[in-house]
Order: sequence, then C-alpha cells, then structure tokens
Amino acid sequence: MVVATMPKRQTSGDRPAPRAIAGNLLAWYDRHRRRLPWRAAPGEPADPYRVWLSEIMLQQTTVAAVGPYFERFVARWPRIEALAAAPLDDLLHGWQGLGYYARARNLHRCAKEVAAQGGRFPDTEEGLRTLPGIGGYTAAAIAAIAFGRKATVVDGNVERVVARLFAHEEPLPKAKPALYRLAARLTPDRRAGDFAQAMMDLGATLCRPRAPLCLACPLNGDCAARAAGIAAELPRRAPRRARPLKHGVVFWIERKDGAVLLRRRAEAGLLGGLMEFPSSDWRERPWSPAEAKRAAPMAAEWRAVPGAVRHGFTHFELELTILAGRTRRAAADAGRWCRPEEFGGQALPTLMKKVARHALAAVPALD
Ligand code: ADE
Repeated sequence: MVVATMPKRQTSGDRPAPRAIAGNLLAWYDRHRRRLPWRAAPGEPADPYRVWLSEIMLQQTTVAAVGPYFERFVARWPRIEALAAAPLDDLLHGWQGLGYYARARNLHRCAKEVAAQGGRFPDTEEGLRTLPGIGGYTAAAIAAIAFGRKATVVDGNVERVVARLFAHEEPLPKAKPALYRLAARLTPDRRAGDFAQAMMDLGATLCRPRAPLCLACPLNGDCAARAAGIAAELPRRAPRRARPLKHGVVFWIERKDGAVLLRRRAEAGLLGGLMEFPSSDWRERPWSPAEAKRAAPMAAEWRAVPGAVRHGFTHFELELTILAGRTRRAAADAGRWCRPEEFGGQALPTLMKKVARHALAAVPALD
C-alpha cells in the first residue's frame, strides 16, 4: 500500500476508505451521469418496470445496442400489463438482434407473474429472485435502482473498478467472490442505486478496460492500482479455454413457388422456440454426407451448398453446412412455408438469418 498518496480525508485503517469513495463517486455521478433512456431524472423515483426491462436487456448486451430496443419496447408496451398481454411471438420478434432468446421468454413469463400480482414487483432482492429470469445480479440491480435498497451490484465494469481500487491481482473468474465482497464494503447505506450506476458509468467512461483515463477519475487518489502503476493491467484474467467447434446441417427446402420450409425449434435449449430452417443436432464430430442425408426431415435430391455458415455462441463456435432440396409436397407436417420476402416477419434468430443470406446467394447458382 502506498501511504504517501493517502488523502487526508481517510480516517480509518480500511483503505481505500469506503465512505469517502462512495461520497466522491456520487458527487461525480451527479455531474457526469450518462443520460440513458431507462434512468429517472435526478431526484425522481425510478419506474421498476423500466429498470427491470433495461436490466434484462443489458444482460450480455451493450448500453449502445440496448437503447433503441428499450425505446421501442416501452413505446409499444408502456406498462407491464401490456407486455404480459402481448403474444410471445411479438415479443420475440421485437427482441431479434438482442440474442439469448431465453431471456425474452423469461421476460414474458416474468411480466405475466408480476401482472398477475397486481403489476407490482417485489421490492427486495430475495423477492425479486423468485421471478423468472432474475438472478443475483439483476435482483440486486433492481432492488437498488428501483427501490433504493442497499444491495451490491457487480457487473463486469464494477469488477474492473473494484479490482483496480484495491489492486486485487487474483485473476478472474476466480476473483469474483472477493471482488463482490470488496464492492459490498464500498456500497453506501443511502443512494445504493445511484452508487451502482455510478460505478458502471465510471467503468464505461473513465476506468476503461484499456487506456484508463486516470487523470479525470474522481477516485484517482484512492486507487491502489494507479499508485502501483498497474491500473491498465487489472483485472487479470485466467487464459480462456478455446471454444469447441460444433457442426450441424441445415436443410434448405424449397417448394415450387419459391417458399422455404421453416419450423419451430424445441422449447428447451439454445434458440428455444424460435424459427429455424430444419436442422440436424449440433455436435463436435462433422457430419458425413450420408449421415447428413439420414438426418433430413424428408426425402429429396439434396445438393450441397458451397461454403458454410459460422456463428459464435458463448461456449462454442458453430459451423453449419447447408443441403438444398426441392419438394412437390405442398403440406409440411411440422413447419411453415414462407417466402424469402416474408422472413423479416418471422422470429428468426441471427444464426438463421445468416443461413438465409448464404443460401439465397448460393442456391440459384446450383440450378
Ligand atoms: N449496465 C447494466 N445496468 C446498467 C445501468 N443501469 N446503467 C448503465 N449500464 C448498465
């Protein structure tokens, strides 16, 4: 610990001093907070519905990406009762591009539960955690931001700020529990929601992953990593394991009039309940041509579409090859015929949009 940089206001041996840090940070937030569509004006109570909706959307997605989605959702469904009453497909359609569709289904389930309870969210972390799609982080964020509860809210930005303030060198992800405890020590009794958002804003604007702007930081006098000259190196991370590559086969089935067969994926699992072009399982072993044909949903004269579609999921990379076929059968047992001009109106995940782009560019050349 570098004693020479300790500011006078520190009064305890608990360094950096939590109270002084929270006070400095809140004063900075009052002047520099980001104006974000889900935030209440200073001094105004936050709307739990908007806080909840934004926090679900912000899971795994950036503030910049979420903004337009949030605006569209609240314009279309201004209250939780309206969202609860919306058809799931409308909600999934509006969610397209945000990824992780399980979040959208849980959003709908949660809206129904809360609407059935009179439209009021529980106002404690424990109560919030009982709702679909609300885990520890989200419960803490809603409890603090919407209800002013003292709750510790730790996302990736906050982890970085805390690791630097305390010069905590243990690598992530192992460091998570320790960083949570350190963040809890800093959380003030009052304005915990503003404090949480101030930590996020600091992490997003000044305490950035690379090239942190320490000169402008309201906490620079308290930052142990800055004093040690290692701010930009923290948090440390354990080397990532390479993501496995999985393989699947997609069947691009065209009817005479140009319509293509879509079907709904099973509810459970990745992209659950969304529309897809009929596909095989995704597995680590590549599919041989004979295996691929056996996995087809109907008999046809299959032609291999050159190239492949690649898509990154959190835990694996996926490579899809496409077999194209024509059928005379007008009826589809478990699917929906859809012309390419109508794909935009379907709940097609990004992965399947990539498949459509690839197939539409390549299939005519096979004729
Ligand atoms: N990331 C997650 N929640 C956030 C919030 N309320 N403000 C800014 N960034 C966030």
